[in-house]
Amino acid sequence: MRLIHRLRGVAAQTLDSAWFFDFQQRLTIGPVDRLHRAIAAELRDLAPRSVLDVGCGTGTSSTTTDADFVGIDVNPTYIARANERFGGPRRKFLVADALTWPFEDKQFDAALYVNAMHHFDDAGALRILAALHRITRSALLIAEPAPETRMPVSRLLISLDQGDWIRPQADLRALIERAGFDVVRERVFFRGFAHTRLLVCRPRRPGDDTDSRGP
Ligand SMILES: C[S@@+](CC[C@H](N)C(=O)[O-])C[C@H]1O[C@@H](n2cnc3c(N)ncnc32)[C@H](O)[C@@H]1O
Repeated sequence: MRLIHRLRGVAAQTLDSAWFFDFQQRLTIGPVDRLHRAIAAELRDLAPRSVLDVGCGTGTSSTTTDADFVGIDVNPTYIARANERFGGPRRKFLVADALTWPFEDKQFDAALYVNAMHHFDDAGALRILAALHRITRSALLIAEPAPETRMPVSRLLISLDQGDWIRPQADLRALIERAGFDVVRERVFFRGFAHTRLLVCRPRRPGDDTDSRGP
C-alpha cells in the first residue's frame, strides 16, 4: 500500500503537466481509443447541437463531435493546451471548478463526464450530476474506471489513478439514478491497459414511465 501511495504521489506531480498528461494518454490508451469512438457513435445518434464536457482535461473528447463544445476543467495548464490544440469559435475551454461553476443559466443538448467523476466524493459528484440534470436536454455520457476487473495490470493502473473515489458499478449507478438519470446503456472497454465503463444516461422528467428504465 505504501508503494502504491508513493507511486500515486509521483504520478500526481508528473500528470500536472498537460504535455505529460497527453503523452501518457497516448501511450496507455492510444491516439484514437475505443472509448472515444464509442462516445462519437453515441453523439452521432443523438445529433446534439451543443455539448458540455465536465473535467475536460486537455480537451481530447471534443474530437468526438462537430457540435458546439464547451469544456471546463480546474487545471489551467490542461485548459491552455485544450485551447491551443482544439479551441476555436465553436469549441471553448474554460478554467472552472465544477463544484462552483454556475451551471444554472446554461442549456446543452448533451453532456460528457469522462473519467472525472471519481475525482469527487459522493456529495460533490451528486451536486454536479444534479446540475447536469437541470441543464442537459437529451443525454449525459459518463465514463469511469471499472474496478471489478481481475486483470492485474488493469487493477494496478486503476489503483494509481489520481481520483480517490473509484466506485464499483452498483454505487456508481445508484448515484447517477439518485440525481435523476436513467442509465439506458452500459459498456465496458479494455482501454489501453485498464478497464473503463461507459454509461449512457437520460435525464428522467416528470411523467416519464419509470418502468421503462434500461438495464
Ligand atoms: C482523469 S482526468 C480526465 C480528463 C478528460 N476528461 C479525459 O478523459 O481525458 C480528470 C480531470 O478532472 C479534472 N478535475 C478534477 N477536479 C475538478 C473540479 N473540481 N472541477 C473541474 N475539473 C476537475 C482534472 O483536472 C482532470 O483534468
